[in-house]
Amino acid sequence: MRAKSRLGGCEARIEAQHKKGRLTARERIDLLLDKGSFREVDAFVEHRTHDFDLDEQKFLSDSVITGWGTIEGRLVYMFSQDFTVFGGSLGEVHAAKICKIMDMAMKTGAPVVGINDSGGARIQEGVVSLGGYADIFLRNTLASGVIPQISVIMGPCAGGAVYSPALTDLIFMVRNSSYMFVTGPDVVKAVTHEDVSFEDLGGASVHSEKSGVCHVAGESEADTLYLIRKVLGYLPQNNMEDPPFVQAGDDPLRTEETLNSLIPESPDKPYDIKEVIRLIVDNGQFFEIHENFAMNIVVGFARLGGHSVGIVANQPAVLAGVLDIDASEKGARFVRLCDSFNLPIITFEDVPGFLPGTNQEHHGIIRAGAKLLYAYCEATVPKLTVITRKAYGGAYCVMSSKHIRGDVNLAWPTAEIAVMGPDGAVNIIFRKELEKATDPVKRKAELVAEYREKFANPYVAAQRGFIDDVIEPKETRPRLINALEMLQNKRDTNPAKKHGNIPL
Ligand code: HXC
Repeated sequence: MRAKSRLGGCEARIEAQHKKGRLTARERIDLLLDKGSFREVDAFVEHRTHDFDLDEQKFLSDSVITGWGTIEGRLVYMFSQDFTVFGGSLGEVHAAKICKIMDMAMKTGAPVVGINDSGGARIQEGVVSLGGYADIFLRNTLASGVIPQISVIMGPCAGGAVYSPALTDLIFMVRNSSYMFVTGPDVVKAVTHEDVSFEDLGGASVHSEKSGVCHVAGESEADTLYLIRKVLGYLPQNNMEDPPFVQAGDDPLRTEETLNSLIPESPDKPYDIKEVIRLIVDNGQFFEIHENFAMNIVVGFARLGGHSVGIVANQPAVLAGVLDIDASEKGARFVRLCDSFNLPIITFEDVPGFLPGTNQEHHGIIRAGAKLLYAYCEATVPKLTVITRKAYGGAYCVMSSKHIRGDVNLAWPTAEIAVMGPDGAVNIIFRKELEKATDPVKRKAELVAEYREKFANPYVAAQRGFIDDVIEPKETRPRLINALEMLQNKRDTNPAKKHGNIPL
């Protein structure tokens, strides 16, 4: 029976799966987990449907492989949908198998990785399949913030089925081999008359660049599974644990001279914040999330002195690092992920403000910006901020400022902390004087220089204690590691409530 169960749909269907450049459900598990660690459960489960002559087609394991194993020696639960059996479609027992391991993961406090490759609800089982999905959605929601949940899309993931991955912490996809959509190309054509391919509607590129549904896109199945092993290394097993501490062999006292000259002389010139991050974190290793989506903000995991941290950074090299709707939502979601799982948040700030324009206003930049603000305000993990250059307007308040419980707020001497940039400020407060001036261009240049001298520096904020210290950029790594260690036993709480009402 075990041999039969291992065969899935049959040899021919396994071959068809391989021909599409895809691995089988079991091959994927073997690649993801530590060698030989997988313990399967429910290998002898079969469906019990009679309609549409389904009782004549029974497959042991039905259409999903479930169990547990280890990644780098740490327990992880998993399910892997088997496309060779009824197209990996989800019926009653398929759902029950997933729910069983999710319940075990919740009881024992370990992550769940779900590999999705499925035609969706098993059509022959009707509403029973829908009920099965809803059972999973409920568990995804209840497990949210308790154990890390990671979804991988390695084939089709269509219809309401997309909502299980969407409820989890991170979605990984494989380029040119996976797709997600609520309604497929045929329905799109019938309803909107648009001609669109599977890839253009819901492929990895679309979701990792345009919609932001996908957090990480791998080049191949093996590459994607390897990235999942890596990302789990930054996360604790559950919300009651600290993230793993890994001595990286990078000197915590290392200073970095390059940082002293990295910010361009002109405040309008861009630089790459990722270069700053790599120079500061352990061994230059930065695991970026949403690398190609809302690139004006950068988020991801790294280590500092061995401590796992989440990094949020404005990116002056893209749209001058401005906060727009997508960047606000991307940042907010990541801040909440870190706060759920006890990862300190390091914020690098260089932001000229929120993006102006009817497009942004009409699509709700107010609501989206409030999400980022809410997420930072609510977070109780250690919060460290480094203002590298601009901290203007509302964005100053939002980006982990002292006022919203930033624990250690540092600024480089190049920091400009003000209500707005010198140019805009002078235009407003000296409008009448400039109208009357005999040489308005010259006068404006003088006023801008005066304003810059007065406000476009970190010292007004430092005088008030809004900035704890102004540091030489090269000292950033040791200063951050020192602050992290000082905050090791930080305890902070929010008022007791059922839950807050984040502006969704
Ligand atoms: C039962 C299914 C199935 C399904 C595929 N199969 N999807 N069986 N229920 N949902 C079966 C096929 O009949 C076929 O069986 C085998 O799986 C392989 O499918 P193919 O179509 O041959 O594969 P391929 O050409 O690669 O196409 C894959 C596909 C297509 C694009 C996913 O199968 C498809 O469109 N399936 C239906 C998708 C869908 O509309 N699902 C319902 C979504 S709504 P045989 O024996 O003939 O080889 C939904 C609601 C969830 O999921 C709601 C939750 C709230």
